[in-house]
Amino acid sequence: MTTRLYIPGDSSAVAVGANRVLRAIERLARERRTEIEIVRNGSRGLFWLEPMIEVATPEGRIAYGPVSHSDVPGLFDAGFLGGGQHPLRLGRPEEIPYLKSQERLTFARCGIIDPVSIEDYRAHGGLRGLVKALQMQPAEIVAEVTESGLRGRGGAGFPTGIKWKTVLQTASDRKYVVCNADEGDSGTFADRMIMEGDPFLLIEGMAIAGVATGATKGFIYIRSEYPDSFRQMNRAIELARNAGYLGPNLLNSGQAFDLETRLGAGAYICGEETSLLESLEGKRGVIRFKPPLPAIQGLFGKPTVINNLISFASVPVILDDGANFYKNFGVGRSRGTQPFQLAGNVKQGGLIEKAFGVTLKELIFDYGGGTLSGRPVRAVQVGGPLGAYIPAADLDIKMDYEALAAAKGMLGHGGIVVFDDTVDMAQQARFAMEFCAVESCGKCTPCRIGSTRGVEVIDRIVAGIDRPKNLQLLDDLCETMVDGSLCALGGLTPFPVQSAIRHFPEDFDKPSRKAAE
Ligand SMILES: Cc1cc2nc3c(=O)[nH]c(=O)nc-3n(C[C@H](O)[C@H](O)[C@H](O)COP(=O)(O)O)c2cc1C
Ligand code: SF4
Repeated sequence: MTTRLYIPGDSSAVAVGANRVLRAIERLARERRTEIEIVRNGSRGLFWLEPMIEVATPEGRIAYGPVSHSDVPGLFDAGFLGGGQHPLRLGRPEEIPYLKSQERLTFARCGIIDPVSIEDYRAHGGLRGLVKALQMQPAEIVAEVTESGLRGRGGAGFPTGIKWKTVLQTASDRKYVVCNADEGDSGTFADRMIMEGDPFLLIEGMAIAGVATGATKGFIYIRSEYPDSFRQMNRAIELARNAGYLGPNLLNSGQAFDLETRLGAGAYICGEETSLLESLEGKRGVIRFKPPLPAIQGLFGKPTVINNLISFASVPVILDDGANFYKNFGVGRSRGTQPFQLAGNVKQGGLIEKAFGVTLKELIFDYGGGTLSGRPVRAVQVGGPLGAYIPAADLDIKMDYEALAAAKGMLGHGGIVVFDDTVDMAQQARFAMEFCAVESCGKCTPCRIGSTRGVEVIDRIVAGIDRPKNLQLLDDLCETMVDGSLCALGGLTPFPVQSAIRHFPEDFDKPSRKAAE
């Protein structure tokens, strides 16, 4: 009898030794004349348990983790191929509390299926959304997406259906669909997990966008730091094309849609949509003036749907189960679910897909188990390097677009980076300005010059030079960057800076703090 084993091929598992574990298992199976079949699944997003391997038993899948190659002989001796007892045995993965209480709509298949098997994808509900979309009028698809309340998961939270409607209504001989998989925010990995763990989901979401707007060609712009995702997406695109769910005749519908991948060149600014389009056209990643919006004049001057990967990946379930099903999740104007990505100084980092409205405290403590260092949480940065710092006293904040905006923060792409009480918030503020200076595209003065001046002013404040005057100057500089920057890189950098000063003023006054001690 052949036993099926799941060993994640996701970069998060490979980075901590999954390939070595795989080789050790193959060697021992050969030596012990045991028949095994290995599936390289994606990650379930429980990173502290990676490599988490699973064995298919008559009672369902049984997980073991974190497994190192040196654990493999012991696992064989314990009869793990039959689900045997072992200190690393975790039981049924879906019963692990971290996973059990999630609301996985977008990540429903990630870590479960063979990512490059269309049969497995279909057996787990894949392609149903596209099949439905192909039976609808474009305007009906757009209406369904609008009705679901889906907002862009890349950062700005713009309603996806409205963007698609503009593209649909703009007449053109050619239109494009572009996926933003640049995923530059600190502590984020949701796009990567889908590309490596459920790539057909992205293909399906983009094909639906094409059918809905009349676009026949799509590009996936993947950051250069994701070589595994790039390979996996190329493989999945080829398989989809061979199976007729990409190409000139989508699932025999007579409609055409095809996809290509492009690799970025390592610039944070190329995640901004207009810079990304410049980069896709083979130029340097510099911001374009808006208007015209990309929906009207985007890639090569043609109407273009440009969305974050998770926005596209959220669409198949909306088409399959309906807008009403999807919008039943969430709070206020934040509908559906969000893949939160927990990173930094936290015990149990990983991906948590929950309906909007879960609190930051629940994510960090109920899921994350608190800090890895065991020290108290002092600050949490939500929404990437341009997100505000939230102090420990405010962790009850609900995670939705409006609640975060009211706290002068933002949800961004759903990244959460936790810091304990050893963090120096003046250095974090300095880092924000320095990051902006390094990543600035250079097109406008408040960002290009302001960020460098910002670093200098913070250095003077920390050194105790004319502190009140320099604090005022920093405030004025931040206001100028907010009001005068052409894009959100310069416009949002003041968020982390000002939140650090507002909540942690003592860190900017070290000489007097030292004197007081
Ligand atoms: C400096 C900067 C970096 C950005 N980086 C990303 C990114 O890595 N991924 C992403 O999806 N959106 C990023 N965005 C947002 C995009 O400009 C754009 O809003 C998004 O691709 C639209 O898709 P959505 O409506 O599905 O969110 C960035 C924006 C700025 C200003
Ligand atoms: S804010 Fe910065 S990144 Fe954006 S256009 Fe201006 S210089 Fe370029």
